[in-house]
Amino acid sequence: MAKLIDSFGRSIDYVRVSVTDRCDLRCGYCMPKQFHDFHEPEEWLTFEEIERVMAAFARLGTRRIRLTGGEPLVRKDLPQLAQRLSALPGIEDLSLSTNATRMDKHAADLHAAGISRLNISLDSLHADTFKQITGGKLEKVLNGIMAAKAAGFRPIKINMVLMKGVNDHEVEDMVNFCIQHSLTLRFIETMPVGDSGRAATEHYIDLGDIRKKLEQRFELIPGVMPGGGPARYLKVAGTNINIGFITPISQHFCATCNRVRLSVDGTLYTCLGQEHHMALRPLLRAGIDDKELELAIINAIHLKPERHEFKEKPEQILRFMSYTGG
Ligand code: GTP
Ligand code: 5AD
Ligand code: SF4
Repeated sequence: MAKLIDSFGRSIDYVRVSVTDRCDLRCGYCMPKQFHDFHEPEEWLTFEEIERVMAAFARLGTRRIRLTGGEPLVRKDLPQLAQRLSALPGIEDLSLSTNATRMDKHAADLHAAGISRLNISLDSLHADTFKQITGGKLEKVLNGIMAAKAAGFRPIKINMVLMKGVNDHEVEDMVNFCIQHSLTLRFIETMPVGDSGRAATEHYIDLGDIRKKLEQRFELIPGVMPGGGPARYLKVAGTNINIGFITPISQHFCATCNRVRLSVDGTLYTCLGQEHHMALRPLLRAGIDDKELELAIINAIHLKPERHEFKEKPEQILRFMSYTGG
Protein backbone atom coordinates (compact mmCIF):
# COMPACT_ATOMS: atom_id res chain seq x y z
CA MET A 1 0.00 0.00 0.00
CA ALA A 2 1.37 3.43 -0.95
CA LYS A 3 2.17 5.50 2.11
CA LEU A 4 3.74 8.50 0.46
CA ILE A 5 0.96 10.93 -0.38
CA ASP A 6 1.87 14.50 -1.25
CA SER A 7 -0.07 17.60 -0.29
CA PHE A 8 -2.03 17.42 -3.57
CA GLY A 9 -3.23 13.88 -2.86
CA ARG A 10 -0.87 12.21 -5.32
CA SER A 11 0.54 8.86 -4.35
CA ILE A 12 4.31 8.66 -4.92
CA ASP A 13 5.46 5.13 -5.72
CA TYR A 14 8.12 5.62 -8.44
CA VAL A 15 11.68 6.79 -7.81
CA ARG A 16 14.18 7.67 -10.52
CA VAL A 17 17.70 7.07 -9.24
CA SER A 18 20.53 8.83 -11.05
CA VAL A 19 23.68 6.76 -10.49
CA THR A 20 26.07 9.20 -12.19
CA ASP A 21 25.92 12.69 -13.68
CA ARG A 22 28.54 11.69 -16.28
CA CYS A 23 27.79 10.61 -19.81
CA ASP A 24 29.73 9.33 -22.81
CA LEU A 25 27.51 11.30 -25.22
CA ARG A 26 26.68 15.00 -25.38
CA CYS A 27 23.06 15.29 -26.59
CA GLY A 28 22.62 18.98 -27.33
CA TYR A 29 19.33 19.27 -25.39
CA CYS A 30 20.80 17.71 -22.27
CA MET A 31 24.36 18.85 -21.50
CA PRO A 32 26.78 21.38 -23.06
CA LYS A 33 29.46 19.94 -25.37
CA GLN A 34 32.39 21.11 -23.21
CA PHE A 35 30.79 20.33 -19.85
CA HIS A 36 33.15 18.76 -17.31
CA ASP A 37 31.98 20.11 -13.98
CA PHE A 38 30.86 16.76 -12.59
CA HIS A 39 30.42 15.61 -9.01
CA GLU A 40 33.51 14.07 -7.42
CA PRO A 41 33.39 10.37 -6.42
CA GLU A 42 33.34 11.20 -2.69
CA GLU A 43 30.08 13.07 -3.31
CA TRP A 44 28.44 10.07 -5.00
CA LEU A 45 26.13 7.98 -2.91
CA THR A 46 27.74 4.57 -2.53
CA PHE A 47 25.74 1.49 -3.58
CA GLU A 48 25.17 0.82 0.14
CA GLU A 49 23.75 4.32 0.60
CA ILE A 50 21.53 4.06 -2.49
CA GLU A 51 20.27 0.69 -1.28
CA ARG A 52 19.55 2.13 2.16
CA VAL A 53 17.57 5.06 0.75
CA MET A 54 15.66 2.83 -1.62
CA ALA A 55 14.88 0.33 1.13
CA ALA A 56 13.35 3.22 3.07
CA PHE A 57 11.32 4.22 0.01
CA ALA A 58 10.20 0.61 -0.45
CA ARG A 59 9.00 0.49 3.16
CA LEU A 60 7.05 3.66 2.37
CA GLY A 61 5.28 2.00 -0.55
CA THR A 62 7.58 2.58 -3.54
CA ARG A 63 7.01 -0.15 -6.12
CA ARG A 64 9.00 1.11 -9.11
CA ILE A 65 12.63 2.15 -9.43
CA ARG A 66 14.22 3.50 -12.60
CA LEU A 67 18.00 3.79 -12.89
CA THR A 68 19.16 6.79 -14.91
CA GLY A 69 22.24 8.99 -15.25
CA GLY A 70 23.83 10.82 -17.06
CA GLU A 71 24.46 7.49 -18.67
CA PRO A 72 23.98 4.89 -15.93
CA LEU A 73 26.33 2.35 -17.53
CA VAL A 74 29.22 4.78 -17.01
CA ARG A 75 28.99 3.88 -13.30
CA LYS A 76 31.16 0.83 -12.61
CA ASP A 77 29.49 -2.40 -11.49
CA LEU A 78 25.94 -1.22 -12.15
CA PRO A 79 24.60 -4.82 -12.27
CA GLN A 80 25.64 -5.20 -8.61
CA LEU A 81 23.44 -2.26 -7.65
CA ALA A 82 20.60 -3.54 -9.83
CA GLN A 83 20.77 -6.90 -8.08
CA ARG A 84 20.52 -5.28 -4.66
CA LEU A 85 17.62 -3.02 -5.65
CA SER A 86 15.62 -5.71 -7.42
CA ALA A 87 15.90 -7.86 -4.28
CA LEU A 88 14.36 -5.19 -2.02
CA PRO A 89 11.03 -6.34 -0.58
CA GLY A 90 8.18 -4.50 -2.31
CA ILE A 91 10.03 -3.49 -5.48
CA GLU A 92 8.09 -4.89 -8.42
CA ASP A 93 9.55 -2.96 -11.34
CA LEU A 94 13.23 -2.14 -11.88
CA SER A 95 13.96 -0.38 -15.16
CA LEU A 96 16.79 1.52 -16.82
CA SER A 97 17.01 4.59 -19.08
CA THR A 98 20.18 4.42 -21.19
CA ASN A 99 21.80 5.63 -24.39
CA ALA A 100 22.77 1.99 -25.11
CA THR A 101 26.35 2.77 -26.21
CA ARG A 102 27.64 0.15 -23.76
CA MET A 103 24.68 -2.19 -23.86
CA ASP A 104 26.28 -4.88 -26.03
CA LYS A 105 28.78 -5.57 -23.22
CA HIS A 106 26.40 -5.35 -20.26
CA ALA A 107 22.94 -6.44 -21.47
CA ALA A 108 23.09 -10.02 -20.20
CA ASP A 109 24.41 -9.05 -16.73
CA LEU A 110 21.83 -6.30 -16.31
CA HIS A 111 18.99 -8.60 -17.27
CA ALA A 112 20.25 -11.31 -14.92
CA ALA A 113 20.44 -8.68 -12.16
CA GLY A 114 16.68 -8.12 -12.33
CA ILE A 115 16.24 -5.18 -14.70
CA SER A 116 13.32 -6.26 -16.84
CA ARG A 117 12.70 -3.34 -19.17
CA LEU A 118 14.70 -0.60 -20.86
CA ASN A 119 14.12 2.84 -22.30
CA ILE A 120 16.73 3.76 -24.90
CA SER A 121 17.38 7.19 -26.43
CA LEU A 122 17.53 7.19 -30.22
CA ASP A 123 16.92 10.51 -31.96
CA SER A 124 17.93 9.66 -35.52
CA LEU A 125 18.53 6.73 -37.86
CA HIS A 126 21.07 8.69 -39.90
CA ALA A 127 24.65 8.46 -38.72
CA ASP A 128 25.42 12.11 -39.52
CA THR A 129 22.30 13.52 -37.82
CA PHE A 130 22.86 11.18 -34.87
CA LYS A 131 26.42 12.48 -34.58
CA GLN A 132 25.23 16.08 -34.83
CA ILE A 133 22.69 15.60 -31.99
CA THR A 134 24.67 13.34 -29.65
CA GLY A 135 28.33 13.54 -30.70
CA GLY A 136 28.34 9.72 -30.83
CA LYS A 137 28.23 6.77 -33.22
CA LEU A 138 24.82 5.50 -34.35
CA GLU A 139 26.16 2.03 -35.08
CA LYS A 140 27.14 1.46 -31.44
CA VAL A 141 23.64 2.32 -30.28
CA LEU A 142 21.96 0.12 -32.88
CA ASN A 143 24.22 -2.74 -31.77
CA GLY A 144 23.25 -1.98 -28.18
CA ILE A 145 19.55 -2.14 -29.02
CA MET A 146 19.95 -5.50 -30.72
CA ALA A 147 22.00 -6.82 -27.77
CA ALA A 148 19.25 -5.68 -25.39
CA LYS A 149 16.66 -7.54 -27.44
CA ALA A 150 18.77 -10.67 -27.51
CA ALA A 151 19.25 -10.48 -23.71
CA GLY A 152 15.46 -10.62 -23.28
CA PHE A 153 14.45 -7.12 -22.12
CA ARG A 154 10.73 -6.53 -22.73
CA PRO A 155 9.51 -4.02 -23.52
CA ILE A 156 12.25 -1.87 -25.00
CA LYS A 157 11.04 1.68 -25.51
CA ILE A 158 12.82 4.04 -27.87
CA ASN A 159 12.88 7.68 -26.73
CA MET A 160 13.05 10.24 -29.53
CA VAL A 161 13.25 13.90 -28.53
CA LEU A 162 11.67 15.68 -31.49
CA MET A 163 13.30 18.82 -32.85
CA LYS A 164 11.95 20.84 -35.74
CA GLY A 165 14.36 21.01 -38.65
CA VAL A 166 16.69 18.49 -36.98
CA ASN A 167 14.95 15.10 -36.85
CA ASP A 168 11.22 15.72 -37.39
CA HIS A 169 11.44 14.46 -40.98
CA GLU A 170 12.39 11.04 -39.58
CA VAL A 171 9.17 10.37 -37.68
CA GLU A 172 7.73 7.93 -40.19
CA ASP A 173 11.05 6.13 -40.70
CA MET A 174 11.36 5.71 -36.95
CA VAL A 175 7.86 4.21 -36.72
CA ASN A 176 8.77 1.73 -39.46
CA PHE A 177 12.09 0.91 -37.74
CA CYS A 178 10.22 0.18 -34.50
CA ILE A 179 7.64 -1.97 -36.31
CA GLN A 180 10.44 -3.90 -37.98
CA HIS A 181 12.25 -4.54 -34.68
CA SER A 182 9.24 -4.85 -32.31
CA LEU A 183 10.14 -1.78 -30.27
CA THR A 184 7.87 0.73 -28.54
CA LEU A 185 8.44 4.28 -29.77
CA ARG A 186 7.95 7.43 -27.70
CA PHE A 187 8.17 10.98 -28.91
CA ILE A 188 9.20 13.61 -26.36
CA GLU A 189 8.72 17.38 -26.35
CA THR A 190 11.86 19.40 -25.53
CA MET A 191 11.92 20.76 -21.98
CA PRO A 192 13.75 23.93 -20.83
CA VAL A 193 15.91 22.20 -18.23
CA GLY A 194 19.37 23.83 -18.03
CA ASP A 195 20.82 26.12 -20.71
CA SER A 196 21.07 23.22 -23.17
CA GLY A 197 17.44 22.25 -22.72
CA ARG A 198 16.40 25.87 -23.13
CA ALA A 199 18.44 26.23 -26.34
CA ALA A 200 16.76 23.09 -27.73
CA THR A 201 13.28 24.53 -27.18
CA GLU A 202 14.04 26.75 -30.19
CA HIS A 203 13.24 23.52 -32.11
CA TYR A 204 10.15 22.72 -30.01
CA ILE A 205 7.38 20.77 -31.74
CA ASP A 206 3.87 20.30 -30.33
CA LEU A 207 3.39 16.51 -30.48
CA GLY A 208 -0.29 17.03 -31.34
CA ASP A 209 0.94 18.03 -34.82
CA ILE A 210 3.05 14.88 -35.10
CA ARG A 211 0.10 12.74 -34.10
CA LYS A 212 -2.01 14.32 -36.88
CA LYS A 213 0.77 13.72 -39.39
CA LEU A 214 1.07 10.07 -38.35
CA GLU A 215 -2.69 9.53 -38.51
CA GLN A 216 -2.56 10.30 -42.22
CA ARG A 217 -0.06 7.50 -42.70
CA PHE A 218 -0.98 4.87 -40.06
CA GLU A 219 -4.21 3.75 -38.42
CA LEU A 220 -3.75 4.57 -34.73
CA ILE A 221 -5.99 3.03 -32.08
CA PRO A 222 -5.93 3.38 -28.26
CA GLY A 223 -2.99 1.53 -26.72
CA VAL A 224 -1.50 0.70 -23.34
CA MET A 225 2.00 -0.19 -22.23
CA PRO A 226 3.54 -1.40 -18.99
CA GLY A 227 5.35 1.40 -17.18
CA GLY A 228 4.66 4.18 -14.76
CA GLY A 229 5.66 7.23 -16.77
CA PRO A 230 3.74 10.04 -18.39
CA ALA A 231 3.51 8.73 -21.98
CA ARG A 232 0.07 8.35 -23.59
CA TYR A 233 -0.01 5.48 -26.06
CA LEU A 234 -1.59 4.77 -29.41
CA LYS A 235 -1.21 1.42 -31.10
CA VAL A 236 -0.44 1.07 -34.80
CA ALA A 237 -3.38 -1.06 -36.02
CA GLY A 238 -2.36 -4.41 -37.44
CA THR A 239 0.93 -4.41 -35.48
CA ASN A 240 2.00 -4.91 -31.86
CA ILE A 241 3.65 -1.53 -31.80
CA ASN A 242 2.64 1.30 -29.49
CA ILE A 243 3.62 4.90 -30.01
CA GLY A 244 3.85 7.02 -26.87
CA PHE A 245 3.53 10.78 -26.67
CA ILE A 246 5.31 12.56 -23.82
CA THR A 247 3.93 16.08 -23.79
CA PRO A 248 5.22 18.06 -20.78
CA ILE A 249 4.63 21.34 -22.62
CA SER A 250 1.51 20.97 -24.81
CA GLN A 251 -0.46 18.82 -22.32
CA HIS A 252 1.27 18.53 -18.99
CA PHE A 253 0.63 15.54 -16.80
CA CYS A 254 1.55 16.89 -13.37
CA ALA A 255 -1.90 16.12 -11.87
CA THR A 256 -1.08 12.41 -12.10
CA CYS A 257 2.58 12.69 -11.13
CA ASN A 258 3.77 9.68 -9.15
CA ARG A 259 7.52 10.19 -8.94
CA VAL A 260 10.54 11.85 -7.33
CA ARG A 261 14.23 11.83 -8.28
CA LEU A 262 17.37 10.93 -6.34
CA SER A 263 20.51 12.48 -7.83
CA VAL A 264 23.98 10.93 -7.61
CA ASP A 265 25.01 13.21 -4.73
CA GLY A 266 22.03 12.11 -2.67
CA THR A 267 19.72 15.06 -3.27
CA LEU A 268 16.05 14.17 -3.47
CA TYR A 269 14.37 16.34 -6.12
CA THR A 270 10.61 16.31 -5.80
CA CYS A 271 9.88 17.73 -9.27
CA LEU A 272 11.76 17.78 -12.58
CA GLY A 273 10.62 21.34 -13.21
CA GLN A 274 11.22 22.90 -9.79
CA GLU A 275 14.15 23.38 -7.41
CA HIS A 276 12.46 21.85 -4.34
CA HIS A 277 14.79 19.30 -2.84
CA MET A 278 16.00 17.59 0.32
CA ALA A 279 19.71 16.79 0.78
CA LEU A 280 19.81 13.23 2.09
CA ARG A 281 23.56 12.58 1.90
CA PRO A 282 24.52 14.81 4.87
CA LEU A 283 21.83 13.08 6.92
CA LEU A 284 23.03 9.61 5.89
CA ARG A 285 26.65 10.47 6.65
CA ALA A 286 25.69 12.03 10.00
CA GLY A 287 24.35 8.62 11.00
CA ILE A 288 20.56 9.03 11.05
CA ASP A 289 18.61 5.87 11.78
CA ASP A 290 16.06 4.25 9.46
CA LYS A 291 13.05 5.90 11.11
CA GLU A 292 14.65 9.35 10.78
CA LEU A 293 15.44 8.60 7.13
CA GLU A 294 11.80 7.67 6.47
CA LEU A 295 10.69 10.87 8.20
CA ALA A 296 13.04 12.98 6.04
CA ILE A 297 11.56 11.36 2.91
CA ILE A 298 7.98 11.91 4.12
CA ASN A 299 8.77 15.57 4.84
CA ALA A 300 10.29 16.04 1.37
CA ILE A 301 7.20 14.50 -0.27
CA HIS A 302 4.97 16.93 1.62
CA LEU A 303 6.89 19.75 -0.05
CA LYS A 304 6.50 18.35 -3.59
CA PRO A 305 5.24 21.20 -5.78
CA GLU A 306 2.02 20.96 -7.72
CA ARG A 307 3.51 21.26 -11.19
CA HIS A 308 6.34 22.51 -13.35
CA GLU A 309 6.32 26.01 -14.79
CA PHE A 310 8.19 25.32 -18.02
CA LYS A 311 5.91 27.71 -19.91
CA GLU A 312 5.60 30.46 -17.31
CA LYS A 313 9.23 30.40 -16.10
CA PRO A 314 11.38 28.65 -18.72
CA GLU A 315 14.51 30.21 -17.19
CA GLN A 316 13.95 28.57 -13.82
CA ILE A 317 15.82 25.24 -13.88
CA LEU A 318 19.59 25.75 -13.96
CA ARG A 319 20.69 22.13 -13.46
CA PHE A 320 21.19 20.10 -16.62
CA MET A 321 18.94 17.18 -17.48
CA SER A 322 21.98 14.89 -17.18
CA TYR A 323 22.04 15.65 -13.46
CA THR A 324 18.66 14.07 -12.70
CA GLY A 325 18.41 11.79 -15.74
CA GLY A 326 15.20 13.21 -17.15
P1 GTP B 1 8.16 4.36 -18.02
O1 GTP B 1 6.86 4.94 -18.43
O2 GTP B 1 8.09 3.76 -16.65
O3 GTP B 1 8.71 3.39 -19.01
O4 GTP B 1 9.28 5.51 -17.88
P2 GTP B 1 9.42 7.04 -18.29
O5 GTP B 1 8.85 7.30 -19.62
O6 GTP B 1 8.92 7.87 -17.17
O7 GTP B 1 11.03 7.18 -18.32
P3 GTP B 1 12.11 7.79 -19.33
O8 GTP B 1 13.38 7.86 -18.55
O9 GTP B 1 12.16 7.02 -20.58
O10 GTP B 1 11.59 9.24 -19.62
C1 GTP B 1 11.09 9.64 -20.87
C2 GTP B 1 10.89 11.14 -20.90
O11 GTP B 1 9.84 11.49 -20.02
C3 GTP B 1 12.12 11.94 -20.45
O12 GTP B 1 12.30 13.03 -21.31
C4 GTP B 1 11.76 12.41 -19.09
O13 GTP B 1 12.38 13.60 -18.74
C5 GTP B 1 10.25 12.57 -19.22
N1 GTP B 1 9.65 12.46 -17.91
C6 GTP B 1 9.63 11.36 -17.12
N2 GTP B 1 9.01 11.65 -15.97
C7 GTP B 1 8.65 12.96 -16.04
C8 GTP B 1 8.01 13.85 -15.14
O14 GTP B 1 7.66 13.52 -14.03
N3 GTP B 1 7.82 15.13 -15.55
C9 GTP B 1 8.21 15.56 -16.76
N4 GTP B 1 7.94 16.81 -17.09
N5 GTP B 1 8.84 14.75 -17.65
C10 GTP B 1 9.06 13.49 -17.27
N1 5AD C 1 13.83 17.68 -23.05
C1 5AD C 1 13.17 16.51 -23.21
N2 5AD C 1 13.72 15.30 -23.01
C2 5AD C 1 15.01 15.27 -22.64
N3 5AD C 1 15.83 14.22 -22.37
C3 5AD C 1 17.02 14.72 -21.99
N4 5AD C 1 17.00 16.08 -22.02
C4 5AD C 1 15.75 16.44 -22.44
C5 5AD C 1 15.12 17.70 -22.66
N5 5AD C 1 15.75 18.86 -22.49
C6 5AD C 1 15.43 12.81 -22.50
C7 5AD C 1 16.48 11.93 -23.12
C8 5AD C 1 16.18 10.55 -22.56
C9 5AD C 1 15.25 10.82 -21.42
C10 5AD C 1 15.60 10.12 -20.16
O1 5AD C 1 15.25 12.22 -21.23
O2 5AD C 1 16.42 11.91 -24.51
O3 5AD C 1 15.56 9.75 -23.51
FE1 SF4 D 1 5.71 15.63 -11.74
FE2 SF4 D 1 7.07 17.87 -11.72
FE3 SF4 D 1 7.16 16.16 -13.80
FE4 SF4 D 1 5.01 17.62 -13.34
S1 SF4 D 1 7.06 18.32 -13.93
S2 SF4 D 1 5.02 15.49 -13.88
S3 SF4 D 1 4.96 17.61 -11.11
S4 SF4 D 1 7.92 15.82 -11.72
